Amino acid sequence: TNMKVTKICCIGAGYVGGPTMAVIAQKCPDIEVTVVDLNAERIAAWNDKDINNIPIYEPGLGEIVGEARGRNLFFSTEVEKAIHEAQLIFISVNTPTKTYGSGKGMAADLKYIELCARQIARIAKDDKIVVEKSTLPVRTAEAIKSILNHTGNGVQFQILSNPEFLAEGTAVQDLLHPDRVLIGGETCEEGQKAIQTLVDIYAHWVPREKILTTNVWSSELSKLTANAFLAQRVSSINAISELCEKTGANVNEVARAIGMDSRIGPKFLKASVGFGGSCFQKDILNLVYICKSFGLVEVADYWEQVIIMNDHQKRRFGNNIVSTLYNTVADKKIAFLGWAFKKDTNDTRESAAIYIADDLVNEQANIAVYDPKVDADQVYADLDYLKTRNVEKNRKKVTVFEDPYETCHHAHAIAIMTEWDEFAAYDWQRIYDNMQKPAFVFDGRNLLDEAKLREIGFIYQSIGS
Ligand code: NAD
Ligand code: UGA
Repeated sequence: TNMKVTKICCIGAGYVGGPTMAVIAQKCPDIEVTVVDLNAERIAAWNDKDINNIPIYEPGLGEIVGEARGRNLFFSTEVEKAIHEAQLIFISVNTPTKTYGSGKGMAADLKYIELCARQIARIAKDDKIVVEKSTLPVRTAEAIKSILNHTGNGVQFQILSNPEFLAEGTAVQDLLHPDRVLIGGETCEEGQKAIQTLVDIYAHWVPREKILTTNVWSSELSKLTANAFLAQRVSSINAISELCEKTGANVNEVARAIGMDSRIGPKFLKASVGFGGSCFQKDILNLVYICKSFGLVEVADYWEQVIIMNDHQKRRFGNNIVSTLYNTVADKKIAFLGWAFKKDTNDTRESAAIYIADDLVNEQANIAVYDPKVDADQVYADLDYLKTRNVEKNRKKVTVFEDPYETCHHAHAIAIMTEWDEFAAYDWQRIYDNMQKPAFVFDGRNLLDEAKLREIGFIYQSIGS
């Protein structure tokens, strides 16, 4: 018989742990779900009476948390208690790129994962299923297993890989209607039982045929591969965007034309200022590192090119602003609309806006920033993290506004960094009237109505045309 799950614990209350567990709790009212985190501030925000104050902005998330929280969904800093009580433990902690030692700048830093494994090993008094929800290098489950199975106290652990495929900004819809759920486990009988236990949880709302089961390593590698393929599409269309700009072709038209080939498909072909987000770069670097460690030089180089292209796309956007503004932006006001790495999220990790702002401040520009969901503290934290200049200088050269019209007031140029819907709906005549002339718009998301902007009088440049 399968293990009866009455209590789930999730370690890590971040962009994945929070929304994923909220949906499990909503769909499985008979299971008590506790999300734990070392970050007391983050847990307090998840428990905030005002649902608008939960730490992650995702359309629809507030409603789900509001429904389940306090009923069978709990957020807590009591990590040990939650581990002790649960039969099923998700590990959903961060796995950033290593910033030190061997594999620095490439490999995934697994210290948080290992700490979790050791903590589980120390606390568990009865058999448990441990689920890797974080994105991990291939064969990490083996390391976790080794730590867990050397406790000597007779407790049995099964380790499953269950990578998450949600995208930020659409996390709730992605969780409610996933393209697939992937569960990797051991092929032995105990492993198969553990897989079935997790399948039964997802089957509360996901059709069975969409729940795939594989061996552990296929599951781990599928996650890295999916992100590499997705990012590769963005770099491919961005590469073509530069050629379009030289030849008079239009990248939107090219994307449409190729996307109608059913083998290529229409999604994920939007040319942009470069992809951001916490995972694409980190996961590809990790893939490249793994390939190199097996001596697969050509394979490593192939995937690394996706990152090289993306860095180029970000850099050339900034360079184009400088050259178009008569080769100097010194003391000019450049308004950034958007700071998040995509619309409908407050997440700014690896956002192209950060790097482009940094380049433009190096050119002595004054940057004005407005993002509907990102506050000044976050913008400064992102810039300070780069350590390009001191914190005072960042605050002197970059100003964060709460009103888009004020942001653009007296600006020499506007750069669209994020594709927030509201940007297209602004009163662009009003913005134009209050800008320096000639008034430039650099649309890094091909979001605005080109004909309308030109008619108003803007000098308008988009990506790939
Ligand atoms: P995050 O940084 O938002 O959240 C991770 C949380 O784990 C943090 O709040 C941190 O305080 C907590 N934590 C770290 N160590 C801990 C410990 N020992 N005990 C308790 N809490 C601890 O990260 P995220 O964006 O949710 O990503 C988590 C994982 O999921 C990563 O491996 C990532 O690659 C993967 N992933 C992310 C996304 C996404 O869209 N963000 C999508 C799919 C997969
Ligand atoms: C991505 C994947 O889409 C998820 O499946 C995966 O679970 C997740 O990474 C992860 O592992 O973290 P996410 O980074 O949240 O999700 O968002 P995406 O929609 O993939 O966008 C990533 C970046 O690519 C954004 O900066 C976006 O603006 C950019 N992008 C995306 C483009 O420039 N063009 C496109 O056509 C699509």
